[in-house]
Amino acid sequence: MSEYNHFIDIDKVDIKDLRLMLKHAVEIKKNLKKGKHIEPLKHKHLAMIFEKSSTRTRVSFEVGINQLGGKAILIDSSSSQLGRGETVSDTAKVLSRYVDMIMARTYKHDTVILLAEKGSVPVINGLTDYSHPCQVMTDILTFEEHKGNIEGKIIAWVGDSNNMSNSWMHAAEKFKFFLHISTPEELAPNISNSDYIKFFPDPKEAVKDADAVNTDTWVSMGDENAEYKRELLASFQINDELMSHAKGDAIFMHCLPAHREEEVTDAVIDGEQSVVFDEAENRLHMQKAIMLWCLNLLK
Ligand code: CP
Ligand code: NVA
Repeated sequence: MSEYNHFIDIDKVDIKDLRLMLKHAVEIKKNLKKGKHIEPLKHKHLAMIFEKSSTRTRVSFEVGINQLGGKAILIDSSSSQLGRGETVSDTAKVLSRYVDMIMARTYKHDTVILLAEKGSVPVINGLTDYSHPCQVMTDILTFEEHKGNIEGKIIAWVGDSNNMSNSWMHAAEKFKFFLHISTPEELAPNISNSDYIKFFPDPKEAVKDADAVNTDTWVSMGDENAEYKRELLASFQINDELMSHAKGDAIFMHCLPAHREEEVTDAVIDGEQSVVFDEAENRLHMQKAIMLWCLNLLK
């Protein structure tokens, strides 16, 4: 067993470990609701590097490590030496001398990989241009709370092709659920030879019989072609009409922040099928399990 684990992408982690983290996230949530506190991360420190904005990731990681007895240190890249050109490699080596774990939200995915390669503590991907694995693990936890084991279920992804859809694609192969992706042809992801991922040019076909309908903002942080994306995606909005093609009891999922009346209508996001605030809450519980796994503290 290695001394510690990085959590960078779902496709790089064994399914047994992904399931172990989910099992513990459920326990951790239950215990917190009962008022039972355990502090396995006492005296441990998490450095949180942010090149991009955040509400959920920042607050859920900081509250999460505090509740486990540890502490978080916020490193806003623009006001740290990273923003003045100190290399990622030197930063990784320096931070590894102080803290026990690093969580990073960056533009380039390679930055997170470099932090992991050059540092000597676990690194957690808190979102890059390529992927958002903490959110998708959280979404699986949320899905299973509402709908049971995700294996064999149908999850529809309608909208942009982005960091969230990439992590959903990784998850589909690992957890063996059917991911129906619908994006404009111009944005279609590369799906090679998958038993679990299928592309549908028509959003109605993608959501047919789906257990969950999922979307995200049309314009991600760092996207430079906002107007082009909005034009292209105009017919990919999740609204009541589109939801009516999914299973009657399908849930609506969105990692937030939402751009209301753009990718989703108020009626859907505020409607009975929406679980978006459960997803937001579950970031707290899921990431506690991820941090404990990174430090080899889960059995
Ligand atoms: N879903 C998510 O990662 O939210 P934040 O950008 O607020 O962290
Ligand atoms: N795709 C979005 C997710 C935000 C949590 C973005 O990268 O901006």
